[in-house]
Amino acid sequence: MTSPRHLDTTATTPVPDREPGWWRSAVVYQVYPRSFADSDGDGVGDLQGIIDHLDHIAELGVDVVWLSPIYRSPQDDNGYDISDYQDVDPMFGTLEDLDRLIAAIHERGMKLVMDLVVNHSSDEHPWFQDSRSGRDSAKRDWYVWRPPRPGHTGGEPGAEPTNWHSFFSGSTWEWDEASGEYYLHLFSRKQPDLNWENPQVREAVYAMMRWWLDRGVDGFRMDVINLISKAVGPDGELPDGPAKPGTRYGDGSPFYMNGPRNHEFLHEMHREVYADAAILAVAETPGVTLEHARLFTDPARREVDMVFQFEHVGLDHGPGGKWDLQPLSLPDLKLNLAAWQEGLAAGWNSLYWNNHDQPRVVSRWGDDSPEYRVASAKTLGTVLHMMRGTPYVYQGEELGMTNVGFTSIEDYRDIESLNHYREQLEHGADPADVLAGIAPVSRDNARTPMQWDDSPAAGFTTGTPWIAVNPNHTEVNAAAARRDPGSVYHHYRRLHELRHTHDIVVEGSFRLLLPEHEQVFAYTRTLAGSPTLLVVANMSSEPATVTLAGLAGPLAGEVLLTTHDDGAHAAGEELTLAPWESRVLLG
Ligand code: NOJ
Repeated sequence: MTSPRHLDTTATTPVPDREPGWWRSAVVYQVYPRSFADSDGDGVGDLQGIIDHLDHIAELGVDVVWLSPIYRSPQDDNGYDISDYQDVDPMFGTLEDLDRLIAAIHERGMKLVMDLVVNHSSDEHPWFQDSRSGRDSAKRDWYVWRPPRPGHTGGEPGAEPTNWHSFFSGSTWEWDEASGEYYLHLFSRKQPDLNWENPQVREAVYAMMRWWLDRGVDGFRMDVINLISKAVGPDGELPDGPAKPGTRYGDGSPFYMNGPRNHEFLHEMHREVYADAAILAVAETPGVTLEHARLFTDPARREVDMVFQFEHVGLDHGPGGKWDLQPLSLPDLKLNLAAWQEGLAAGWNSLYWNNHDQPRVVSRWGDDSPEYRVASAKTLGTVLHMMRGTPYVYQGEELGMTNVGFTSIEDYRDIESLNHYREQLEHGADPADVLAGIAPVSRDNARTPMQWDDSPAAGFTTGTPWIAVNPNHTEVNAAAARRDPGSVYHHYRRLHELRHTHDIVVEGSFRLLLPEHEQVFAYTRTLAGSPTLLVVANMSSEPATVTLAGLAGPLAGEVLLTTHDDGAHAAGEELTLAPWESRVLLG
């Protein structure tokens, strides 16, 4: 076989057919480019690195690659702050490299989904530079500018137009001395929010999206797209939000999450960009409710195909939010996921445990000890992948990669973690307590380099990686996993195979069994004309027992997949599962 580096990309490469609804049977693999593979030794991943490792992805049996942002960017938020939507950042390569990547993905029968980050741009985007050049700029209204709070002097604490707390700590408003107004940034001050009320902004975004479709991409993952519509009053006013305990800020989300014109804007985008293109449009929607999700994904409304909801990944957040992690209650998780399965029975779900913003699931809800890491990673994969919806695998999840366990603030790179640390210390918190809160949830857990092999930088780079490699790469790495038929990698490969060979995995109706069971996650899938599929999984590090009567499914059926060849045994009226044992049966 030709090495991927020498693919002849000048020849016409096959562009995959895109039948409407093709994504229903698809599995998506997310690549976070700066942490995936570095081909030139500068310590940061790049496009050539992805091309070099595409076979790892293709052989896993996935259908789609979702690429986190590779656009030109000052990298304040690792590329989610874009200064040119139609170019590649030199750190990652060139547009020609991207064309080669698209061709190489298509040649392997896969498709490419690009990240679309248009709630905000970078403050270094020419649109914003023009906008901030003065109040009479033609692009002034492309962003959200407001005067200081009446009776206050701009720049002083409390003069911000609203009390909203930024996702990345501090106020959502930045004072611009030169033009004498504040601009809105829900994320970092280098990520000013675009003003979607302005039709010129919307048309510029749609034109850019059409340009990417013409270049051969097959879909978009739309970053925080349910924040684009702000609840602007008739005179442009934006209200204060309810006070957030323990901070001097308020919660502005009622005025920018699932806002009044959100559905209208997405419907317009659909009409203007992809009405006839059969792309995959997946909306990232923090704080989305089932009710809104039904609207976003109702095919008749022509908005998007599916959303990323956040309820399940918030179940272990305590009163202090994500930094205040609590033990997960399995019954809560099951009930929540079942509610989404049933609530979107006429629509479609995205299924995920991990992405570049979430800690590693095997450390979070599995057991990353040497004894149970592999079994728990497999079982978490099984319960997710056998549900109805499109599964998303985040790089390294297929290896059972774990949280990194950083112990010093110097180890962290993520703006969210660093800003939170600084804000807490300013409020007099004990640094050790703050670090202990950050360690299990920091986004950097997802961003340590992909572990390719057991060499010093895990085969990620020949240079110095931009963020430390997890020391467990000597054990947990792709080379070892691919060699071992009992690895998490091969288990994920089989899960993907089941989705591609059994219609019931794609289309079957979901029914939760044993909702109250504290250890076992069990459900059936049913489809007219097919035997029933039963998933039964011990989600704990202790043996678990269930009564056979509680399992309405085909316990004696064909075993499609199991974590333990010599596991589950029934005695009398009961079935006992080994720690983290799961089975998928059809009968
Ligand atoms: C959601 C992205 O997933 C996250 O990484 C980013 O920081 C924010 N949106 C802002 O773009």
